Amino acid sequence: MYLFKSEKQFASFLQKEKREGKKIGFVPTMGALHYGHISLIEKAKPECDIVVCSIFVNPTQFNDKKDLEKYPRPIEHDMEMLLKADCTVLYLPSVEEMYPEGKPHLKNYDLGYYDKVLEAAFRPGHFLGVANVVFRLLQKVNPDVLYLGQKDFQQIQIIRKMIEIENLPTKIEVCEIVREASGLAMSSRNVRLSDDAWNNATIISQTLFFLKENKNNFSSVSALRKEGIKMLKAIPDSIVEYLEVCDVETLRSIEISVEGKPAIILTAIWIDGVRLIDNVLL
Ligand code: PAJ
Repeated sequence: MYLFKSEKQFASFLQKEKREGKKIGFVPTMGALHYGHISLIEKAKPECDIVVCSIFVNPTQFNDKKDLEKYPRPIEHDMEMLLKADCTVLYLPSVEEMYPEGKPHLKNYDLGYYDKVLEAAFRPGHFLGVANVVFRLLQKVNPDVLYLGQKDFQQIQIIRKMIEIENLPTKIEVCEIVREASGLAMSSRNVRLSDDAWNNATIISQTLFFLKENKNNFSSVSALRKEGIKMLKAIPDSIVEYLEVCDVETLRSIEISVEGKPAIILTAIWIDGVRLIDNVLL
């Protein structure tokens, strides 16, 4: 595996590969890697000649300073996982390299409704930071395909919108959510859960799958939503931020019926001081 920390050497490596007509797949991450991240690399490997993974804990997407400080950074463990996964390149930029102008001057993308609801409503400024950092990373890597996880469903729509605004040629591939055996969606934040909280957190996916399986037994979408919120609120030490049933494409809330429409249930919940998100397609 090649490791690049500085853009100069990375750029000349990429130029050479591109001249040879190699197809480049890109998996951006913030590290603290788990099998969810690795699944994106596994998806990219047979489809691309070069798989670039980046690890960069992006300060501009943390609306909570403490969350940024507490974000796990087990770089040696991450490198081992990437080596095992046979990833071609690890790009590890510094904050100075990503934001050379010092205090970041973010582009003020108009991300529309995607930047108003769900995560955006609870994490102001988060998606502007995501859109900006992914744009900067795409400029450096210039991949053919960008691999993103369904786990961060709204993030996919945000990045799609940014790619459209910037008129970039990159295609997006969406990868399924990888879960623990208990159903808990893998997340870098799971390591911060106590044993009890970890067990309680399994109720999140149980709730989502229960709602999916029983969607036709509810009189309306709002009845389904109410039941979901009730189940989540029963988790000890929890604060439910949202559970919404939305149109897959627009992310607008569906109030009446999900019949015939591609829909998704999305939720965010704090358990024992750790914020977790999950979703299930209906
Ligand atoms: P991070 O949370 O590290 O996630 C990196 C990628 O891994 C994202 O595309 C995310 O959706 C995917 N992922 C995370 N958990 C997953 C799981 N359980 N199953 C499948 N895929 C999973 O998302 C970010 O970093 C950042 O916002 C980033 C895009 C890198 C910009 O800073």
